[in-house]
Amino acid sequence: MTETGTASRETHLLLTLDVNGERHELVVEPRRTLVDVLRHDLGLTGTHVGCEHGICGACTILADGRPVRACLMFAAQAEGMALRTVESLADGRQLGDLQQAFTEHHALQCGFCTPGFLMLAEGYLAETPDPAKDEIREVVAANLCRCTGYQPIVEAIEHCAARRRARNPKEK
Ligand code: FES
Ligand code: FES
Repeated sequence: MTETGTASRETHLLLTLDVNGERHELVVEPRRTLVDVLRHDLGLTGTHVGCEHGICGACTILADGRPVRACLMFAAQAEGMALRTVESLADGRQLGDLQQAFTEHHALQCGFCTPGFLMLAEGYLAETPDPAKDEIREVVAANLCRCTGYQPIVEAIEHCAARRRARNPKEK
C-alpha cells in the first residue's frame, strides 16, 4: 500500500489487489470497503450488498480461501490476500459444479443471497470435502436467506460434495 501524491496524501491510497487470479492496481480512499471496490471499481457485481453490517452474508467472498464479509473489510486490508469472488466459479458461460448443484436443487429463488451462499460453501467444501448434513446446516446458518427455507441449499452443497468426492476419491 502506497500513499499517492502530495495533494491527495491523506485521502487516497495506491493498492494492489489480487482478485480471481488477476492483479489490479487501484487508487482508493482509505475508508472504501472491499465490497464497494470490487463492485464499483472492478465491475465485479456478482458480490451483493445487503445489510452492510456483517449480518446477512450476501457479500461473502473468499480471502486466502476463507469466507469473509467484504462489507466489513476496508479494501486496504485485502492487499496481499488472494481474493475470490463468485465470478471465479464459472468457466465462461459454463456454470461451476456448485452453481450447477444450486440450480438442480432449486436452492435459489430471488437469488439475492446466492453469491454469498456459494462462496461460503466453496470455502467450506475446500476444508471439509465430506461434510455431515447437520454440519452443513450449521455453516449455512451464518448467512441469511428469506426465500428458500435453507433445505435446498443444504442439499445442493451435500450433492456437490458427493460429486467432487466421486470425481476425486482422495477427497474422502
Ligand atoms: S452486506 Fe455484508 S454481511 Fe450483509
Ligand atoms: S433466494 Fe431470495 S434471499 Fe435467498
